[in-house]
Amino acid sequence: MEWMLKVAVVCCCVMLPYARYSPTWDSLDTRPLPAWYDEAKLGIFIHFGVFSVPSFGSTHTGDTLAEWFWWYWQGKRSKDFVDFMERNYPPGFTYGDFAPMFTAEFFNASEWAGIFKASGAKYIALTSKHHEGFCNWPSATAFNWNSMDVGPHRDIVGELANAIRNETDIKFGLYHSLYEWFNPLYLKDKRNNFTTRDFVNEKTIPELYDIVMKYKPELVWSDGEWEANSKYWTSAEFLAWLYNDSPVKDTVVTNDRWGKDVTCKHGGFLTCSDRYDPGTLQKRKWENAMTIDKLSWGFRRNVGLSAYLTIKELIQTFVETISCGGNMLMNVGPTKEGTIPAIYQERLLQMGEWLSVVGEAVYASEPWTHQNDSVTKGVWYTSKGDTAYAFFSTWPDSGYLHLGSPTMKAADARVTLLGTSISLHWGKTHPTGISVELRSVLPPELPNQWVWVLKLEGFQ
Ligand SMILES: *[C@@H]1O[C@H](CO)[C@@H](O)[C@H](O)[C@H]1NC(C)=O
Ligand SMILES: *[C@@H]1O[C@H](CO)[C@@H](O)[C@H](O)[C@H]1NC(C)=O
Ligand SMILES: *[C@@H]1O[C@H](CO)[C@@H](O)[C@H](O)[C@H]1NC(C)=O
Repeated sequence: MEWMLKVAVVCCCVMLPYARYSPTWDSLDTRPLPAWYDEAKLGIFIHFGVFSVPSFGSTHTGDTLAEWFWWYWQGKRSKDFVDFMERNYPPGFTYGDFAPMFTAEFFNASEWAGIFKASGAKYIALTSKHHEGFCNWPSATAFNWNSMDVGPHRDIVGELANAIRNETDIKFGLYHSLYEWFNPLYLKDKRNNFTTRDFVNEKTIPELYDIVMKYKPELVWSDGEWEANSKYWTSAEFLAWLYNDSPVKDTVVTNDRWGKDVTCKHGGFLTCSDRYDPGTLQKRKWENAMTIDKLSWGFRRNVGLSAYLTIKELIQTFVETISCGGNMLMNVGPTKEGTIPAIYQERLLQMGEWLSVVGEAVYASEPWTHQNDSVTKGVWYTSKGDTAYAFFSTWPDSGYLHLGSPTMKAADARVTLLGTSISLHWGKTHPTGISVELRSVLPPELPNQWVWVLKLEGFQ
């Protein structure tokens, strides 16, 4: 009897690691998110494709030429679009005519990897295929509409995957659009109210398997799901394979855009809408996918400096995001030549400079008891164990920063300015909180000019 019991226990323990996910959201949602993702906090999103050729977007709305083509093609003939095309391109010019101009002659994956590494980001997501359907790898299901057959004549995804893996400790991830604006198979399924699934069977799913098997992305960032539900996309079946049997089953992370019934509800982490930034602590892990160019994901040639977020604005958004349990996926738009415009490079290097000073308060941090301060606006918190970190971006005129949320717990409670060895004087305030004396800090002692961090030990 005792022997049998032992066998039963052993069997049970041996069985557990082989628990398999079934293709239902209930089952898939039980998978723990691999820890690297939450610890990473910052990722870089890269929108690169044929749309990088016209690299034109409305300065009011950010709507791109690619979108205008799509609308035009659906019979919505905007005058602005027709005028723009007439002024700039020969009669009869089609969207496909942009592809040979996607030259990427300066694309150097090592250079990109170096820039991303210097930004302090811990993962990236490159557009393997955007809504236009152009594949940045030699896809067997995209004849003459992929980067090997036309344009760069290179495997963009493969080159970047290799450089990221061989030269950095950054996780490699791929963005993938489920739907395609112009694909006749997709449009047929749509006309059939998604009762047929030819596009999914012939294109979407083979493609997803292909990029996972070839490039082993540790993040699959799905998009373009919103016209159909997950039953049409068979996304639960794909995810069950990804989590059970794929080469990245133990480390891969996914988002939530797997069908209009799924977004913001199921999947790995929640992205909900673009630039999602709820400002309050969320129950589930989430991501703020946002852009350095305030309006556009792709590079815009007709852009002015004011369209870009400043480094201070970027850091403020980042801090608010991580305080509330999110990660930030910060987007850059390279040019059709394959370069990352200098303004993006500067923002990324500034982010890295900031993180090199305050990384302790960011990577692998957790939300604190309070997300933002109860008294001083714009102060956000993170924590690690018993230590809390207060981020502030306005230097108080009075020379004293009033924090309403922390209360002293230990007799030797300390406040230091992160990135310096300066221990700051502080005192209790009434009815709650503390006042931290900053006026003794001299400008040359400041570790940066954007957002500062106080390390609070012995407080709760
Ligand atoms: C690519 O960039 C790396 C790093 O900057 C450099 O060492 C290498 O020579 C470049 N390769 C080409 C083909 O320009
Ligand atoms: C799709 O749905 C619409 C609205 O319910 C209906 O009018 C149309 O006939 C349907 N088309 C097909 C092919 O089932
Ligand atoms: C804290 O953040 C919440 C949500 O963004 C906001 O409503 C509240 O006003 C903030 N509190 C302070 C003191 O700024």
